[in-house]
Amino acid sequence: MTEHYDLIVRNATIIDGTRAPRFHGEIGVRGDRIVKIGALDKATADIEVDASGMIAAPGFIDAHTHDDRMLLSNPDMAPKVSQGVTTVVTGNCGISLAHSPANGASTPPLDLLDGSGDWFRFPSFRAYREELAARPAAINATCLVGHTTFRVATMDRLDRAATSAEMAKMRAMAQESLASGAIGVSTGTAYPPAACAPTEEIIEICRPLTEFNGLYVTHMRNEDDQVTESIEETCLIGRTLAVPIVISHHKTVGTKNHGRSVETLKQIAGLMKKQPMGLDCYPYIASSTVLRYDRLEQSSRIIITWSKPHPEFSGVDLDEVAKRLKMTQAEAVEKIKPAGAIYFMLDEKDVQRILAFEETMIGSDGLPHDTKPHPRLWGTFPRVLGHYSRELKLFPLETAVYKMTGLTAGKFGLKDRGVLKAGAYADITLFNADTVMDAADFVHSTLPARGIGTVVVNGAIVWRDGKTTGARPGRVLLREA
Ligand code: ZN
Ligand code: CU
Repeated sequence: MTEHYDLIVRNATIIDGTRAPRFHGEIGVRGDRIVKIGALDKATADIEVDASGMIAAPGFIDAHTHDDRMLLSNPDMAPKVSQGVTTVVTGNCGISLAHSPANGASTPPLDLLDGSGDWFRFPSFRAYREELAARPAAINATCLVGHTTFRVATMDRLDRAATSAEMAKMRAMAQESLASGAIGVSTGTAYPPAACAPTEEIIEICRPLTEFNGLYVTHMRNEDDQVTESIEETCLIGRTLAVPIVISHHKTVGTKNHGRSVETLKQIAGLMKKQPMGLDCYPYIASSTVLRYDRLEQSSRIIITWSKPHPEFSGVDLDEVAKRLKMTQAEAVEKIKPAGAIYFMLDEKDVQRILAFEETMIGSDGLPHDTKPHPRLWGTFPRVLGHYSRELKLFPLETAVYKMTGLTAGKFGLKDRGVLKAGAYADITLFNADTVMDAADFVHSTLPARGIGTVVVNGAIVWRDGKTTGARPGRVLLREA
């Protein structure tokens, strides 16, 4: 009897996500799982995908996103599937849609998810998760909840530490979220609404992480002059709660701190011997977030990504905005806020050093609702594969794939994801190793990447021939570490 599958990927060069060397093979899928990898030339299938000349890899996992709302508002997830991403980690930097603040939702940086505040309508994480389950997206999500969201939802003013009553409320929010399937809590103490939260406040709110073995994920309090102190604070929180930590978008900001990744990576490598931790990085020398006056002197160039009162400045350099408004740059910042910006403030050597560090995962930190977004939203993964691995030879392709699949699934506890093997979920990305490359840049920032072939999520094809297919097989993934 001939074996029959729902889907077979034929003639592939397989990079399995474990860093093992590539091999030739075929992948047989039934339902949402890979059933067999090997020679399937005698088997038949409902759908056959020819991968001649292509690499078949596990679908990429975006370790750091702000896709909480895009999953619902743009469920085809084109910026991500077009790069071969099949799972996103949401709720980063202290920012999540749930527990939605009754008012104050447009407080920066929460406005990165939605300036109008309309999407902040989830009274609990369970409500958010239920809506995602009822209206699934094309790709999987695994969700963090944000400390800054909790603060805005709980406190009358944010320029102080939380009282013990407020901490109890926020702890209950964390408890409800983790019990309902959130995989951890994120903080963004670098941002004003959470900057006044002392270490103790974070520990008290994050207490439920211990019981659930949840993750503590952080956009650290400081990524410039006090970056090493911030790493210590992060690790202290992880040790106190006995949970794994993830340092988000690791970088050393500002000319003065260029080169300091030598020091921070040594520090991180040392701490990793004592406690479970991970870190992620995006492959660009420019960062992006809300427009902030204090970033001015650390940046060699600033590009506006959106502005509520002055949408016409999206994509324009702050330099030019100031000239047109006949103001200083500082005055212009005040005039066009609320707004977002791209900041050129990192050193290429640091970016490469951090990317190449063994334990560094790839995370885009893309901002899907910006008018003229940082190109990392559409380009991160192909850029690592094409520019950093193929062109600069920073690491072999097997390592590049591992940093966006197996490593990430391990750190976030996503069972049977991030690897191609019999029994794993059928999240599969085909790409051409010779041509894969980001196309989005700082001028044309929303161009789909080149060289990505068919993309499969839970056994269903979501991207083919350069287009989304309309399939919505995405699920909310739990942490099963
Ligand atoms: Zn951040
Ligand atoms: Cu972020």
